[in-house]
Amino acid sequence: MFKNMDANDFSTFDDISNQAGRQKIIAKSAIMLEKLEIAQRIAKTDSSVLILGESGVGKELIAEQIHLGSQRKDMPFIKVNCATLAGDLAESTLFGHVKGAFTGANDETKGRFEAADKGTLFLDEIADLPDSIQAKLLRVIQEKTFEKIGSDTSVRVDVRIIASTNKDIEKLIEEGVFRKDLYYRLNVLPIYIPPLRHRSEDINSLAAFFLKKHSQDVKKHFEGFSDEAMEALVLYSWPGNIRELENCIERACVTGNSAIINRQDLLIENNSLLNAQIGEGGRDLKTMVNAFKARYIGSVLRDKKGNKTETAKALDIQRTYLSKLIKELNIEGEGDT
Ligand SMILES: Nc1ncnc2c1ncn2[C@@H]1O[C@H](COP(=O)(O)OP(=O)(O)OP(=O)(O)O)[C@@H](O)[C@H]1O
Ligand SMILES: [Mg+2]
Repeated sequence: MFKNMDANDFSTFDDISNQAGRQKIIAKSAIMLEKLEIAQRIAKTDSSVLILGESGVGKELIAEQIHLGSQRKDMPFIKVNCATLAGDLAESTLFGHVKGAFTGANDETKGRFEAADKGTLFLDEIADLPDSIQAKLLRVIQEKTFEKIGSDTSVRVDVRIIASTNKDIEKLIEEGVFRKDLYYRLNVLPIYIPPLRHRSEDINSLAAFFLKKHSQDVKKHFEGFSDEAMEALVLYSWPGNIRELENCIERACVTGNSAIINRQDLLIENNSLLNAQIGEGGRDLKTMVNAFKARYIGSVLRDKKGNKTETAKALDIQRTYLSKLIKELNIEGEGDT
């Protein structure tokens, strides 16, 4: 059984992530620990950051960490969802307007840029930023000044930009939907957060953490997960990444009615990587076991950046045996060290 007792035992950004009300970042895999280290280094600078990665991998959480690790941490962290910005409202939301600037502009307002002065502006879903705003945003980033709608007076701001997207922004540039010059300005410090299926070593800790969190919410006590439940969590492909994992554990806490979370408490039947690999037929034990081995070894191998010696050590097998398995099971990894 996997007990939830190590839910506090994580190497994290503890110094800045334990502030009241903040979600703690859980990371065990080498790749995520490396990303957190990069984030910590990035935090010390004032350059623009572009956080990339699939939906639910923790881009917003990382953006907050970068702010909290920076000298701006006591100043505002302002979030703007670029996907919800449209038309006049978009410009006004970002830059504000003066009284009478347009019908309905009854008072002067501050935009998000001004609100974030001396702090950090988090431009979430940047790929969805309306075309009409891209040029103005570029200018603010370059010159640090802008005019409110309806005003000729320049407003000067000192804002650190962190942008994020789950889209293929380079493809959008090719398609002419996103400005290349703006991309270059934003992409000074890129950081890619890998999907959960490529860092299976985080699943155990994340699951334990969410179990503790949500069991408190529902006022129940769970000791941990059954072996079968944990195996299912590790094998599932998590297309919705950590958000989906948290939802899954929350649901299990609500419906679970024994001391441990069992396999049937987890509603993750259909989308397991194993199912996808095995397809409709061939569900004999050997095929299942090999599919599991391939998936798990592949995940550790990627986490260790293709280093076979490190991977063999983590798996507690001989390096020569690992090489044999990689060949036999046709496992994809990075490099060949
Ligand atoms: N390493 C982590 N440890 C703990 N919680 C995490 C971690 N990563 C993500 N989460 C949680 O998972 C959820 C999704 O994270 P977040 O909103 O940061 O993802 P995102 O990449 O911004 O997703 P989207 O692209 O959909 O906006 C949040 O509730 C967040 O607190
Ligand atoms: Mg987000």
